[in-house]
Amino acid sequence: MNTLGVETSCDETALAVLDSEKGPLGTILLSQAKIHSPHGGVVPELSAREHTRNILYLFDQLHRECPVDLQRLQSVSVTVTPGLILSLVVGVAFAKAVSFNLGVPVVPVHHLEAHIFSPFIESDPEYPFLALIVSGGHTDFYLVEEFSRYRFLGGTLDDAVGEAYDKVARVLGLGYPGGPVIDRLAREGTPRYSLPRPLEDSGDLNFSFSGLKTAMIKLVQKEKDAKAEDLCASFQKAVVDVLISKVRKAVEETGVQRLVVAGGVSANSLLREKLTELAGAMGFDLIIPPLELCTDNALMVARAGLMRLQLGVTAGSDLNGDPSIPLEKFGRIWGPEGRGSL
Ligand code: KG4
Ligand code: ZN
Repeated sequence: MNTLGVETSCDETALAVLDSEKGPLGTILLSQAKIHSPHGGVVPELSAREHTRNILYLFDQLHRECPVDLQRLQSVSVTVTPGLILSLVVGVAFAKAVSFNLGVPVVPVHHLEAHIFSPFIESDPEYPFLALIVSGGHTDFYLVEEFSRYRFLGGTLDDAVGEAYDKVARVLGLGYPGGPVIDRLAREGTPRYSLPRPLEDSGDLNFSFSGLKTAMIKLVQKEKDAKAEDLCASFQKAVVDVLISKVRKAVEETGVQRLVVAGGVSANSLLREKLTELAGAMGFDLIIPPLELCTDNALMVARAGLMRLQLGVTAGSDLNGDPSIPLEKFGRIWGPEGRGSL
């Protein structure tokens, strides 16, 4: 079985073909980072406009580059939630057009589920495992009991960690997305400034990054002569300290010895280094996607789509995008019994 993955939930227009036997057969991605950068964050209207403008060209290019004849696609998997609604609708409308045209099923995919399974493009996970999603929109812990069965364990009470990176970068004048630039500068600096570690000892698996972000913005305004590298290193250390202490807590409390960390911020060099150290010290299996699959991409959508298809789930012509269906509900809506409604 093969599928065309379609991702348009935020600022990447991405398509990929994944075959359950042969693996990835083609992938194409267009980032809108340059378009949003002057605004310091993603502008929803611009995002939808760019997806609309580019998706057919990308499909055409994939058609020319991909060794699979796209006429032989057997299914289409599309991110339907969560995300920017108009952007999601571009992907869903495109996926339905391909599905009608070829007479193949369309499969709804939850964006966070796609991130969780991004390290398993060509392998099968062992269950249960813990998943920490760290992205521009989410910072959430889940217990993954099996594909489509998730237990929410804790998450951010305010800003997502990637969002905090992006907002701090905006104040530092570093453009969007902020994570990769702050990460690069932080490697060259010293974490000499003290910043809070919100909720580090809260006794649960929740996070709060908005206070840290505000403290960082005040620090930037106060320390006018500070080196950007040192400011970034101080911020990055505070963020990673909090994430690591919560990971330690999650593993200790659940006793689950497998951890997936996925989403854009899982590309962070200090986070990857500290997670690897912690996994070695505590003896759990750490599973992180390769760098190119940390941020949004269509291969992970295709993978999650193939897994949902294995459950026998396909959508009808009334499929639509939704800005915010919680992951733990998605399996009930789009599980073997659900079929699109609660
Ligand atoms: O998963 P993703 O591509 O989109 C969402 O689903 O939100 O994550 C994007 C986020 C952005 O906030 C970006 O700044 C952050 O991931 N990011 C990073 C790094 N690379 C991307 N944050 C920290 N360090 C990085 N190396
Ligand atoms: Zn994402």
